[in-house]
Amino acid sequence: MIRLENLSKHYGRVAAVDSLNLEVEPGEIFGFLGPNGAGKTTTIRVMMGILRPTSGRVTLGGYDVEREPEKAKAITGFVPDRPFIYEKLSGSEFLKFIGGLHHVDEGLELRIQELLEHFELSEWKDELVESYSHGMKQRLVLCASLLHRPRILVVDEPMVGIDPKGARTLKDLFLSLAKGGTTVFLSTHSIGVAEEVCQRVGIIHKGKLIASGTMADLYRLAKVEEGRLESAFLELTRDGASPPGPGTERP
Ligand SMILES: Nc1ncnc2c1ncn2[C@@H]1O[C@H](COP(=O)(O)OP(=O)(O)O)[C@@H](O)[C@H]1O
Ligand SMILES: [Mg+2]
Repeated sequence: MIRLENLSKHYGRVAAVDSLNLEVEPGEIFGFLGPNGAGKTTTIRVMMGILRPTSGRVTLGGYDVEREPEKAKAITGFVPDRPFIYEKLSGSEFLKFIGGLHHVDEGLELRIQELLEHFELSEWKDELVESYSHGMKQRLVLCASLLHRPRILVVDEPMVGIDPKGARTLKDLFLSLAKGGTTVFLSTHSIGVAEEVCQRVGIIHKGKLIASGTMADLYRLAKVEEGRLESAFLELTRDGASPPGPGTERP
């Protein structure tokens, strides 16, 4: 459903993303795990067609993001790390605006109602976004990303600044979306999140995918006991750690 082939993005001489290869299956929640500065956001921006890759390519649902951007975008929802919302619109106005951008015409009103209800925002739908809390803004952005019923949802570090209840709601959302067949690509620096909701994870470090596979694969790779992924993660992304090779996937 998502495929990155030899994907690289250089900023000057810095390889922010360095020859990434990975594939995410339909209905899977894939955790893109890495410390700050690892290259997660850059990878996602290239995946979303916001940045052009230096080399390599991305396909979403079989559509090449550079060659068929409209088709790729039509099946994809995106929640950026620092979303932009028009503060002077109300929640429902913002969603109508986004719905228009996605050409969701039929049933838009109903879809907006349904999502606002689901994310417990109905009560505030006519208030200006500027009066929303951080958590409410984030839920609104999630509504916006789901308006057109995307088959792929890409979310960049959604847990930052979210309280435990909000985090629970988000995790449940990803699980239920995946159950319904949506493919979720979730970037995070939080091991707990990855452990709880992701079927497979890829660990990115200095732009390179240094390991990928199931949690069990990663435990084995880092030679730590189950339930101790945190130490595995720290070990794998330690400066000067010996590279574990091309990964554990499909040997
Ligand atoms: N616009 C940019 N210009 C130059 N370097 C950048 C730019 N954006 C990111 N970088 C660098 O690329 C690397 C990866 O950054 P980023 O993708 O934001 O990582 P992450 O999202 O994993 O924290 C970092 O070293 C960062 O400093
Ligand atoms: Mg980032």
